[in-house]
Amino acid sequence: MARRRVAICDLIGRTVVRRNLVAGNWKMNGSRAMAAAWCADVAGNIGPAGAGEVAVCPPHILIAAVVGALAGSSVRVGAQDVDVNDNGAFTGQTSARLIADSGCRYVIVGHSERRAGYGESDQLVARKAGAALAFGLRPIICVGETRAQREAGDTEAVVGRQLAALLAGIVPEAWPEVVIAYEPVWAIGTGLTAAPDQAQQVHRFIRQRLAARDARIAAQCRILYGGSMKPDNAAQLIDQPDIDGGLVGGASLDAGDFLAICAAAGS
Ligand code: PGA
Repeated sequence: MARRRVAICDLIGRTVVRRNLVAGNWKMNGSRAMAAAWCADVAGNIGPAGAGEVAVCPPHILIAAVVGALAGSSVRVGAQDVDVNDNGAFTGQTSARLIADSGCRYVIVGHSERRAGYGESDQLVARKAGAALAFGLRPIICVGETRAQREAGDTEAVVGRQLAALLAGIVPEAWPEVVIAYEPVWAIGTGLTAAPDQAQQVHRFIRQRLAARDARIAAQCRILYGGSMKPDNAAQLIDQPDIDGGLVGGASLDAGDFLAICAAAGS
């Protein structure tokens, strides 16, 4: 389905168009052979950049191969994490400078698997986003509540706190490059997807929080949904007024499924 473009007016009357973005997150999956086959399939079938954008975030070790295989296509490449330091004695880490130098345009920041498994605080996530922005990368910053937090009625408190750290840590001029991904933790990798209206409620809340700081930031910022997005639920989710695409984990590993989700987003 061809997704309509969202056009809204900001405070000074200019029309702001948010382009949908579908970003694949391979997590710690794939291989050189899988990457080669996936890139050939996706690059061969994606078509020119249209109303929407497409990106894929492979593990760091596959980035160079994926950038090479997708050269000349409209598909952008991203990393899955970034260090806050620019360079130096940080064994095993990867800086925004290196990620940008590798040909990436995006980087996922603050994924719940990193917040939960590697102790990333809201403040560290904001610093990582700042490091990415300083090198011309677009951070895809993940926010979202756990099942226990949702059941306790704390969804808005949790997401509001995560956003507050971003609003405090990222300078207003950098926000046009920022992408937020609302990923309810209970929906990630579980097959449980947030219902479209349930997701839209949180997306609207996120946009309102951004608007409370600056209406232009709210109008421009793309807010993706993530959490068991699949070809059969993508269109309904992306059709919601405040959902501007998807961050796709499991389904992004299959080129056919990923292409179907991109088509649902008009990308
Ligand atoms: P999923 O993962 O699509 O496999 O639920 C999404 C994500 O973690 O970004």
